[in-house]
Amino acid sequence: MQSEYRQRRQAVLEAIGGGTAIFCSAPTAVMHNDVDHLFRQDSDFFYLTGFNEPNAVAVLSPWHDEHQFVLFVRPKDFDKETWSGTRTGIEAAKERYGADEAYSINDLGKKLTQYVEKADRLYYHFGHNSEFNGRIIRLWQQLLAKMTKQGTGPVAIEDSKLLMQQFRRVKSPFELEKIRRAIAISVEAHNVAREMAQPGVYEYEIQAAIENVFRRSGAMGPAYPSIVATGENACILHYVENNQQLAEGDLLLIDAGCAYDYYNADITRTLPVGNRLSEEQKILYDLVLQAQLAAIEQVQPGKPFNAFHDAATRTITAGLVELGLLVGEVDQLIEEKKHKAFFMHGTGHFLGLDVHDTGILRNMDKSWKPFAPNNIVTVEPGIYISPRYKPAEGQPAVEDRWKGIGIRIEDDVLVTETSNEVLTSAVPKTLNLPVLVH
Ligand code: GLY
Ligand code: MN
Ligand code: MN
Repeated sequence: MQSEYRQRRQAVLEAIGGGTAIFCSAPTAVMHNDVDHLFRQDSDFFYLTGFNEPNAVAVLSPWHDEHQFVLFVRPKDFDKETWSGTRTGIEAAKERYGADEAYSINDLGKKLTQYVEKADRLYYHFGHNSEFNGRIIRLWQQLLAKMTKQGTGPVAIEDSKLLMQQFRRVKSPFELEKIRRAIAISVEAHNVAREMAQPGVYEYEIQAAIENVFRRSGAMGPAYPSIVATGENACILHYVENNQQLAEGDLLLIDAGCAYDYYNADITRTLPVGNRLSEEQKILYDLVLQAQLAAIEQVQPGKPFNAFHDAATRTITAGLVELGLLVGEVDQLIEEKKHKAFFMHGTGHFLGLDVHDTGILRNMDKSWKPFAPNNIVTVEPGIYISPRYKPAEGQPAVEDRWKGIGIRIEDDVLVTETSNEVLTSAVPKTLNLPVLVH
């Protein structure tokens, strides 16, 4: 386990050469009325350290004679640990987390300078912690002021997120194992949910069953707020109320995945409630499935990142034209983004320590970066025809029989050396139902 984090640090140490990278932990859990909310470590910080406490700073300084990896942590404190749980403390930070040196976070002001004053550049992400941001700027200003006499010092601050994404977008076997586990648990949850999709059941009952599977399987919990959306609720992309009753003839959209040891799954299925399916539901479902399969086909090593979204967009737009829901020439409709009336989100995102995982998608010249082996991406096209749908100028009104249908199908796809592997294929996505028009 430690060797995994050591290897990750090694890669970053090599990349930054004469620079120093500073990573700040996520802020302490938010407190509302004296009630703690769960702490979740910053993903870059966790990726490099595996250290899961707030009020910590990690420093990587490859050029330093003795200390290439330094941790600043909360010191042991009997009283505070009684209230908020044990702290690793300074000594164990070295032993357990492999730091060459560790200090109390209270000594940051005194001890940090030695790890940055001879660096030629700093790597730091100006995130939400404005107090710490201010600290880094002040430190940098002090070093710049001394630079004329000393001849050394960091001439620039580079965003550490840019640095980190190149490593995090390629998953190691260790990470892949965690993600496979998160997916296996989420697959089981979806298969439990599928059995429950009957008229009269409440969305929250299904949510509870899903999240029950997550926790009893040792997952940390949902990777994001579970969406259990029946009927027209599925047309609200971030529907989270989950308080309505399923009705015969609804389609039920479930977007749920767990976090397991910090790694995430992200799966969406749309399925019929009871045994009825209208022709419109079936047609649109088949179109989304066709778009999803066409998109998955484009997730290949060397293929540019936009190819899978283009494939999904083209399939959906052409299908909508054939159905008379959009009018015009497919290329032009796409160019004018007319498909966005029904398919308004991207086709997917990287998946890893974050659900929407880090990863720059384009090069400086605007060309798209290619997929590489061991990238993991979600593929999740959808069609949503809201009851509130209003056609854009020049587009036809939509008959009521199409309204209130929301469909998304989302798989997690691994790029392999030669092609891809759909990691979430154990949740069925074929409907296999007779079409009964209501
Ligand atoms: N569940 C979040 C997403 O699909 O991106
Ligand atoms: Mn999702
Ligand atoms: Mn997703």
